[in-house]
Amino acid sequence: MAKMAEKRDLISIADFTAAEIRRIIQRAREMKSDPSSNPLAGKSVALLFEKPSLRTRTSFDVGIHQLGGHAIYLGPEEVGLGNRELASDVGRVLSGYVDCIVARVYSHHQLQELAAYASVPVINALSDREHPCQIMADLVTIQEHKGSVEGLKLSFIGDGNNVARSLCLGLPALGASFTIATPRKYERYDLDEESLDLARQRVDQEKFDSVAVVALEDPEEAVHQADIVYTDTWTSMGQEAEAEIRKKHFQGYTVNPELMAKANPGALFMHDMPVHYGEEVEEGMLDHPQSVAYDQAHNRLHAQKAILEFLLAGR
Ligand code: NVA
Repeated sequence: MAKMAEKRDLISIADFTAAEIRRIIQRAREMKSDPSSNPLAGKSVALLFEKPSLRTRTSFDVGIHQLGGHAIYLGPEEVGLGNRELASDVGRVLSGYVDCIVARVYSHHQLQELAAYASVPVINALSDREHPCQIMADLVTIQEHKGSVEGLKLSFIGDGNNVARSLCLGLPALGASFTIATPRKYERYDLDEESLDLARQRVDQEKFDSVAVVALEDPEEAVHQADIVYTDTWTSMGQEAEAEIRKKHFQGYTVNPELMAKANPGALFMHDMPVHYGEEVEEGMLDHPQSVAYDQAHNRLHAQKAILEFLLAGR
């Protein structure tokens, strides 16, 4: 008997090779200009969300509908991942009903367990470690505005969080340099060395010789020669109790027009949203002439459709 192909998950952006990421970006752009294909006809997808969501939930629901499939939303009060039910049981049970599980969770470990026990593909819709769907949409946005990702430098200003980690693991593999500026004296906001090392390994695998992965402290130094300046909230979902101390620790890390002026001319300003105006960005930054933040949000739809097609229809 022929061996069944193993199911694929998207838990980390590093689960996909550079070639696969390029193919998904390309398909996302094709689907954006021609949204007529329906590779999910007859298929159902569970949207299992432990945390709030505007962009991710809406774009997955609409995208699944556009691809001919059916989405079922399961909120925290319905499932209680890891509390009411073990993640392993949730994965095994849902696999008997649906063709894919899209999950937004507090703990990355729970997501890994869910994926290990599910026999259908599991997509990370944000965990405390990574946000790969956001980064796929960001890559589509960068290609649209800059033509290519290779040879660019992205500088992330702020917390070494889930979004920063996925950018770090995703962009260098495609030939873009990545620099992160965090208040290093507190250590807890730094990106972990394993992620920085894995990003460097992916650069070596792809045989890029002038791609750098750098962690430093000073935002102005970080944005020097940057083609993209990226920031995210200082307090991610689940860290609300630390909001006040974080505001103090991140003083000097607000992205504003003055900092943008120190990057390369025509550099893009990016933010995954939601935005905390007056904290990681000055009021009005999303309407800055170099901001592409709303394009990033809109491209979530196309990027996720391409991810679903890749994982469920093998295209
Ligand atoms: N780092 C943020 C991203 C929100 C889309 C969070 O985890 O809350």
